[in-house]
Amino acid sequence: MKKLTVNAMSATYDILIEKGILKDCAKYIGSVVRGKRAMIITDTNVAPLYLDKVKDELENAGFETYFHIFTAGEESKHLGTVAEIYDSLSENEFTRKDFIVALGGGVCGDISGFAASTYMRGIDFVQIPTTLLSQVDSSVGGKTGVDTKYGKNLVGAFYQPKLVLIDPQTLSTLTDHYFADGMGEVVKYGCIRNAELFNMLETIDIKENIEDIILECLKIKRDVVVEDEKESGVRMILNFGHTAGHSIEKLAEFKKSHGECVAKGMVMITKASESLGITEVGTAKRIEALCSKCNLDTSCYYDIDTVALHARNDKKGSDNNLNIILIDKIGNSVIQTIDKNDFAKYLSK
Ligand SMILES: NC(=O)c1ccc[n+]([C@@H]2O[C@H](COP(=O)([O-])OP(=O)(O)OC[C@H]3O[C@@H](n4cnc5c(N)ncnc54)[C@H](O)[C@@H]3O)[C@@H](O)[C@H]2O)c1
Ligand SMILES: [Zn+2]
Repeated sequence: MKKLTVNAMSATYDILIEKGILKDCAKYIGSVVRGKRAMIITDTNVAPLYLDKVKDELENAGFETYFHIFTAGEESKHLGTVAEIYDSLSENEFTRKDFIVALGGGVCGDISGFAASTYMRGIDFVQIPTTLLSQVDSSVGGKTGVDTKYGKNLVGAFYQPKLVLIDPQTLSTLTDHYFADGMGEVVKYGCIRNAELFNMLETIDIKENIEDIILECLKIKRDVVVEDEKESGVRMILNFGHTAGHSIEKLAEFKKSHGECVAKGMVMITKASESLGITEVGTAKRIEALCSKCNLDTSCYYDIDTVALHARNDKKGSDNNLNIILIDKIGNSVIQTIDKNDFAKYLSK
């Protein structure tokens, strides 16, 4: 088993990574929670695959279990779903000593974490992420929340889990689409902080080595979020490829995966930073090749000015500055503050 400890200012918790760890979940959960009653929150795709397993394990260990299943998909990530979870908790007389288990992808983790942070002003919660994206990214760092009709993740809270249990075996049921989606973030981690990880990804069989890959990604995410829990400084480097990526996601009306859009964003900004003499020549080509190995299409079908304009409009308010993340070489990121009207100069196709 691989273990990482997150020493966040507001809480300390462990991330445990092991193939098959689901079957031991009760032992690990039991060592961090106070109560004996668990509300397992999951979605309609994950429930038939893993709910019984987690439920049975917990019950065999003497926990009382309840579950709440919501319709899979980003469309469920709103306050209505959270209100339904509050109702399930109240109907089953959950108190402050009881706890929530988030079993699913990033949508499940974000909704459940937010419900846990607000129900009775905060109850314990445990993350069992089941998508690659949630295993390498969203389950760690304490960001929870929901979308509103005005935008994504507009309402939320920073709230740390008591424990994160990662079973890479759950990825065997994930579609290729969602596996590739998560790889967008994996490539990003290599780019911003770990040249060795990037080199390894270029050469090895990714699925065969996924447990080590997840560990390396989480070390980076852990280090960065511990340094900057509330996102005021270094945490920004996690946004490499994301400023352009988010614009492309919106332009594509969310029909392209987040990972694919981030891949496009990373390549666009690195091609430009290479021509500007900031980045080692050949870097963009390497990122492009690795993304292609991960089944991520890096071509951008929108013109640069449209992408830049969307990014600019995203950043409303009087402040004209935009912080962009560049890499000067694989494994090393640089935060640069630019005039938001100049963003197009930092993008190239
Ligand atoms: N909190 C954070 O720091 C953070 C960071 C990045 C992303 N996010 C959020 O994460 C969300 C995206 O996460 P996601 O991509 O995991 O989405 P998701 O939770 O919707 O999961 C993707 C799909 O895979 C299915 N699924 C999950 N696990 C499965 C498994 N093991 N086998 C088969 N199918 C499975 C789900 O039902 C869903 O259809 C977004 O809402 C995003 O805003 C949060
Ligand atoms: Zn992302």
